[in-house]
Amino acid sequence: MSPQKPKNQPFHHRLDSLLEAVAPCWAGEALIARRYLGGEHRTVARDVQWIGFQIFKEHTGGGVYGGPGETVATILRSAALRASGITLATPAEDINKVLGDLQFAVDELRHMTQFIRLYTLAGGDAHRSIESLGKLDNAGRLAALRHESRSTPIGHTAVELSEGGGLGLHFGMQEHFRLSPPSAPADRELARLTDVILADETHHMQARFRSILDLEDSDSTWQSLENQLVAICAQKLRERNEQFSFPLSEEELRQLPGDRSLGRQYMEAHLGFLQGMP
Ligand SMILES: [Fe+2]
Ligand SMILES: [Fe+2]
Repeated sequence: MSPQKPKNQPFHHRLDSLLEAVAPCWAGEALIARRYLGGEHRTVARDVQWIGFQIFKEHTGGGVYGGPGETVATILRSAALRASGITLATPAEDINKVLGDLQFAVDELRHMTQFIRLYTLAGGDAHRSIESLGKLDNAGRLAALRHESRSTPIGHTAVELSEGGGLGLHFGMQEHFRLSPPSAPADRELARLTDVILADETHHMQARFRSILDLEDSDSTWQSLENQLVAICAQKLRERNEQFSFPLSEEELRQLPGDRSLGRQYMEAHLGFLQGMP
């Protein structure tokens, strides 16, 4: 199949082709979740490590929330400050932005605290700092790539669209628990949390994908968006693999981003909520 795209395609065709390009990476995240939860690879120590890292991700956003130093708490602080400045003359779009940021940060803060509960259930050390839970080589590389990419409008959009890795981790966990219903208390909590997060994050993704409409509609813009999004999501896949103590081999990590048929299966199974947009 030719990657060449005819000019002036309608938005939905462009969106489908963007999703087709990035979906293999997202399907890879689902594969990591299924392989980790369903295999002998899983240990108590590794559970503590992946949940601890997830707390760090929900707290810092891994480069999605803004520049270095931005966290869920700084988004809340800035939105609360802007809320305190609202007057009768504040434009509706500014108020909507404050409300949107507050809602987003409250969702992420809830995810973070739910993962803290799970971390305690798994036997994690509550005296560690959140910062100390995030020290993975591939996480540093991902955050650096996102910070570098966000300096242009197209790169900034690519960073936003990469939030949550197409929900691959959560769809993978949901699928695992559908086939093997959880029995241990920590797994029942994880299965419940997965459903809650999927409900929040589908909204986050829809809002972020709407931001594509602010970009210039040209072949070169879409191609550049695709290239940058795939580069970020391929690095994100490596981060996810390290988070779960490497259930995928190096060979699989190299092959997966180009596996279009795996990507199409993932799109059909999970991404209908984006294809119907805007
Ligand atoms: Fe989250
Ligand atoms: Fe999110």
